Amino acid sequence: MRENDSSMSAPGQAELIAAARAARENAHAPFSNFKVGAALRSRSGKIFTGCNVENASYGLTICAERIAIFKAISEGERSVGFDAIAVFTAAEKLTPPCGACRQIIWEFCGDCEVILSNTCGQTESFKMSALLPRAF
Ligand code: THU
Repeated sequence: MRENDSSMSAPGQAELIAAARAARENAHAPFSNFKVGAALRSRSGKIFTGCNVENASYGLTICAERIAIFKAISEGERSVGFDAIAVFTAAEKLTPPCGACRQIIWEFCGDCEVILSNTCGQTESFKMSALLPRAF
């Protein structure tokens, strides 16, 4: 966890990471075999999860982060706002959100915390403004 103190408490982070890890179990990734789970926390404390869902027409694939965000938006949580999103993978390196997801996270979650974690037990967190400087 970064030293700066807008970041979430360790128990808060652990809960969000666990939710992302569980969501990853539902990933549909027969083409890349790269399973991703995401968990988004709204300011009211609700957690919305997502996993990547691939398609034989590859470009139709949707990342875990976007599914979590769109679920939350469709459940009417947009007015409350969001303070953190966790992304969980089995990769050896942590997996930061792709460019498309960064734009979507920025638009709906602003300068929230992005927590990356993996099955190797690594965890690191960033502010969105560090991942998407000078955003559109
Ligand atoms: N993927 C995500 O779900 N989130 C990320 O942050 C990076 C990439 C998915 C898309 C695709 O199903 C697979 O990972 C390989 O790119």
